[in-house]
Amino acid sequence: MPAVTARGDDTGRPSDQVPKQRETTLWHSQAHMPTVKRAERVIVRGEGAWVFTEDGQRLLDAPATLWHCNVGHGRVEIADAVAAQMRTLETYTTFQEYANRPAIELAERVADLAPVANAKVFFTSGGSDAVDLAGKLARRYWDVQGFPDKRVIVTRSNGYHGLHALGTSIAGIEPNRLGYGTLVAETERVAMHDAGVLEALVRERGADQIAAFYCEPIIGTGGVYPPAPGYLEAVQRICRESEILFVVDEVITGFGRTGAMFASDRFGLEPDIMLVAKGITSGYMPLGAAVIAERVWEPFWADGSDLIFRHGITYAGHASACAAAMANIDVLEREQLVDRVKSLEPVLDAAFRPLESHPLVREVRSGVGLLAGVELHELELLPRVCARCVENGVIARMLSNATIQVSPPFVVEPAEIEQIAAVIGEALDWVAAG
Ligand SMILES: Cc1ncc(COP(=O)(O)O)c(C=O)c1O
Repeated sequence: MPAVTARGDDTGRPSDQVPKQRETTLWHSQAHMPTVKRAERVIVRGEGAWVFTEDGQRLLDAPATLWHCNVGHGRVEIADAVAAQMRTLETYTTFQEYANRPAIELAERVADLAPVANAKVFFTSGGSDAVDLAGKLARRYWDVQGFPDKRVIVTRSNGYHGLHALGTSIAGIEPNRLGYGTLVAETERVAMHDAGVLEALVRERGADQIAAFYCEPIIGTGGVYPPAPGYLEAVQRICRESEILFVVDEVITGFGRTGAMFASDRFGLEPDIMLVAKGITSGYMPLGAAVIAERVWEPFWADGSDLIFRHGITYAGHASACAAAMANIDVLEREQLVDRVKSLEPVLDAAFRPLESHPLVREVRSGVGLLAGVELHELELLPRVCARCVENGVIARMLSNATIQVSPPFVVEPAEIEQIAAVIGEALDWVAAG
C-alpha cells in the first residue's frame, strides 16, 4: 500500500479514496505516525530475496529489510538451530563468571574471522548497544591509562551510529540529533571525505582530549557513500599517530556486504574496536558485538589487574541469538556468499550507472559490494518514486539525503538486480512525467 499523506496517497488518490486500516498501536521507528498509523505495510513471509505482504503482494527486498538480511529470507536451518538451542537452554547470562556455550564459541569464531589480531569479543543486543559500549570502553581505557581528559568522540558528517544516547549525540545526520539537548557531552563532527579536517581538529582540540574516532567504512544510512580514495588509510594513520582509538563501525558492512568478510579487510584497516550487528545473524535474531584489539582489552584482562569494565546488558551473548549467528555464518561460508557479493558487484554497478543520466538523479553511488545509493536532486520527489517502486513489486527505501538505498540479500540473482534498477528507472520516469 502506498504511503498516505494528509493530501491523499503517493499514487495521487485523494485521501477519501485511500483504503484505511484500523489505527495501529505499534509506534514505528523513524516514522511520521499520522501518515503510517492507518497504512502499515505488513510483511508476513520471506523467501530468498523476496518478501510477501499480508494482502498477498510479492516484493523484491532491495534493501534486505534494514541492510541486514545478508543470507536471504526463509533459511530453515537458522530457525532450526535457534529452536534446538531454545529447547535446551534459551540463554544464560554472561555476567560475572557465567556463560553459555554458543556465546563462547561465537566469540572465538568472530575473533578468528575479524581483521583484529588476538581480539576479544563483547556481545550486545544490536548495533546501537555496540556503539555505546565502544564509547564507554574508549573513555575508560584512556582513564585507566592515566589520561582521564581523553573523552571526545569524533564522527563524520552523514555518519550513522544508531539511535541510543551516544549514537544520537554523535549523529552526523542532523535531524537525528536535534531536539534532545546534550545526551552525551564532548563530541565533535568532521566533514565526511576530508582527512585534513580531522587532522586540523586534532591540532585545535588537542590529541590529549580525543578518545576515539568512529568511522563507517562506507557511510550507509547517511546516503551510501563509499570512501574517497585514500581517506580511510589517512584517518587510520592520523588516529595511530595521535593516540586516538580507531573505531570502525561495520554494522552494515560486516559479514560480507562489501565483497570481503569485513570492509576493514577490503580497505586494509586495523580497527582498535570493530562494531558489528545486522549481518552477524542476518537478522534472524537480534545481536551485535564489539570486537576489541589487544591493546584495549589488555589492561582489563592482565593477570594481577584489579580493573573491571563496568558494562553489560542482560542479553549480552544471548545463547539463542549466538546459535542463529553460528548457523548464519555456516550458510555464508558453505554457499560462499561473500565471493558471490564480489562477483555481483560489477553487475549491480552496471545496472545502476545508467540511472545517473536521468534528469531527476543527482548521483548514483555504487561499485563497492552489493550497495548502491541513487540520489535525487529533490528530496520532495523521493516518496512518490519509492511508492511507485513498491506498487511495481520492489521495496525502495528512502534515506535522509534524497537517496534510495539498494542493498539486496546476497542470494539476489543478476536478473533481479536488473529488475530493481528497471523498476526504479520506470518510477523516475513516471514521477518526471508528473
Ligand atoms: C553503521 C551503523 N551503526 C549502528 C547502527 C545501529 O544498529 P541497531 O539499529 O542494530 O541498533 C546502524 C543501524 O542501521 C548502522 O547502520
